[in-house]
Amino acid sequence: MTDQIFDREAFAQPLKFAYWVPNVSGGLVVSKIEQRTDWSYDYNVQLARLAENNGFEYALSQVRYIASYGAAYQHESTSFSLALLLATERLKVIAAVHPGLWQPGVLAKFIATADQISGGRAAINVVSGWFKDEFTKLGEPWLEHGERYRRAEEFIRYVREIWTSEHAELNGDFYRLHDFDLKPKPLSSPERPHPEIFQGGNSTDARGMAGRVSDWYFANGNTPDGISEQIRDVTDVATVHGRTVKFGLNGFFIGRDTEAEARDVLREIVDKADREAVEGFGAAVKQAGQSTGDKKGMWQDSEFADLVQYNDGFRTGLIGTPEQIATRMIEYKKRGVNLFLLGFLHYLEDVEYFGREVLPLVRELEAAELERV
Ligand SMILES: Cc1cc2nc3c(=O)[nH]c(=O)nc-3n(C[C@H](O)[C@H](O)[C@H](O)COP(=O)(O)O)c2cc1C
Repeated sequence: MTDQIFDREAFAQPLKFAYWVPNVSGGLVVSKIEQRTDWSYDYNVQLARLAENNGFEYALSQVRYIASYGAAYQHESTSFSLALLLATERLKVIAAVHPGLWQPGVLAKFIATADQISGGRAAINVVSGWFKDEFTKLGEPWLEHGERYRRAEEFIRYVREIWTSEHAELNGDFYRLHDFDLKPKPLSSPERPHPEIFQGGNSTDARGMAGRVSDWYFANGNTPDGISEQIRDVTDVATVHGRTVKFGLNGFFIGRDTEAEARDVLREIVDKADREAVEGFGAAVKQAGQSTGDKKGMWQDSEFADLVQYNDGFRTGLIGTPEQIATRMIEYKKRGVNLFLLGFLHYLEDVEYFGREVLPLVRELEAAELERV
């Protein structure tokens, strides 16, 4: 059981924070509530600079190729991520990539260049995909769930091999490389031998893949017990392979001065949900974990209200006063969460509020906890 054991050394590492880059239109909730969030480049540059000055170490761009479920427009993830890297000084930007749509050598090359230019701040989030229409409209085959993960795992192995070896020679079921030597390689240090590899997905396939090959496992929003189960599963696999995996948890942040105000905002988001879009999304994501034998994975038991936030972000419960949110974050940290991936209603205002009101409390609680044990 990983959830009840207090690992002092791990706990001594400060919680990390990432935010979802709003590079698709419509904001982070599928709702007609006013969202003072914009998907433009100029807005995102302002946001990225604000975020790196308010405690955010990472930003995660989304990959979406076609209009869907409230997201009518989308900026491409790798080019947008590079642009944000160039506009910031410390922020690490994670670009979401679909293995089915990239050749690993080409992606590895793109990211190596981004890493060189940004002084070692590039990262990737490998997503196996849930959106069948996107693949069929691009004329690519839509593999079944287990095959998508087999391909994603091969992709991650190959990208890492290309970043670290001088003669990558690989003959896989999905990709091939012959004596491929990337020059220049991405930046490398003992702490970060190559750009970090995150992955999205919570099914049994996803957990196994994370344990075997990923540096980070991103989870959809979940309860403390729900995330503990995932951490346990991934860690069990990682241990067998002599590896360590870190955990990022999605949460939609609604921090207000009173709990009643925060709850009112949540109620309004759900009341004003774009019903048609949410239901369409709910039907499409049945291609994810629900399509597998054990039906485990993202969205497997999501209700209508959960789906109003694409990634079950309300379930994490980061909704309330700064004290309530900070306390909740520490509870998750004790379960093994290393990073929170946050989404917001009004990005500029809420990111600043987070940095001013919540982050100092998190740091105080972390210090107090270390003193206590
Ligand atoms: C943090 C996170 C970010 C994701 N970002 C994207 C994305 O940008 N584009 C996309 O098509 N899928 C994205 N996904 C979804 C994955 O592609 C995958 O379909 C989903 O995680 C379902 O996997 P599962 O069946 O293993 O639970 C993301 C998932 C997570 C957890």
